[in-house]
Amino acid sequence: MIQFVPIASIPPAEIEHLLDLAFGSDRRGRTAYKLREGTDPIAALSLAAVEEGVLVGLVLCWPVQLAEADGRLTPLILVGPVAVRPERQRDGIGRELMLRMLEAADAAASDPMTLIGDASYYERFFGFSAQHTQGWALPGPVERHRLLARLRPGQVLPERGALGPRPDVGLDAAVGS
Ligand SMILES: CC(C)(COP(=O)(O)OP(=O)(O)OC[C@H]1O[C@@H](n2cnc3c(N)ncnc32)[C@H](O)[C@@H]1OP(=O)(O)O)[C@@H](O)C(=O)NCCC(=O)NCCS
Repeated sequence: MIQFVPIASIPPAEIEHLLDLAFGSDRRGRTAYKLREGTDPIAALSLAAVEEGVLVGLVLCWPVQLAEADGRLTPLILVGPVAVRPERQRDGIGRELMLRMLEAADAAASDPMTLIGDASYYERFFGFSAQHTQGWALPGPVERHRLLARLRPGQVLPERGALGPRPDVGLDAAVGS
């Protein structure tokens, strides 16, 4: 039986171990890490899946923003990493983590979301799309078709801007701002 709990209840070393298993230990140089530098996970949207006391999956969310040339800032939520322990992959844990996170975000009328990941997973199951992101600048290399966003009805995003960390944000302020 799998329990879904706040990530804050998991020791950091266990989180790091799972991320090493899912992504390899060279993951830290990735552009996604630069996007969230200096921020903390959004507590209400960062979840762990625990099975018989073992961390088997997680999703983390972070406050980021898109800065336009005229200085306007649009708050967004960066989703990821999403990771499932290799021997437990393809058994619905990733989907359940994402759906629980999205349900909490939608209930809180959260900011739009962005992530770097496979459209064949995140578009197919969760409604993310590369359509809105093609004019965005990032602090490192990214494959354009893997830069995705998800808007709730009525939300719009600037076509151009620089995506980066949104520091100094109260953790849960990021959910509903
Ligand atoms: C990607 C990941 C989070 C998915 O979680 P999961 O629990 O293994 O997947 P689920 O059981 O929820 O979903 C399974 C479905 O998604 C598909 N799927 C899984 N990973 C996929 C991927 N990377 N690309 C496309 N489809 C994928 C499966 O084919 C399956 O589809 P089906 O139901 O039609 O057979 C997990 O496999 C993982 O941690 N992978 C390594 C790390 C990673 O790449 N993370 C994502 C980038 S942030």
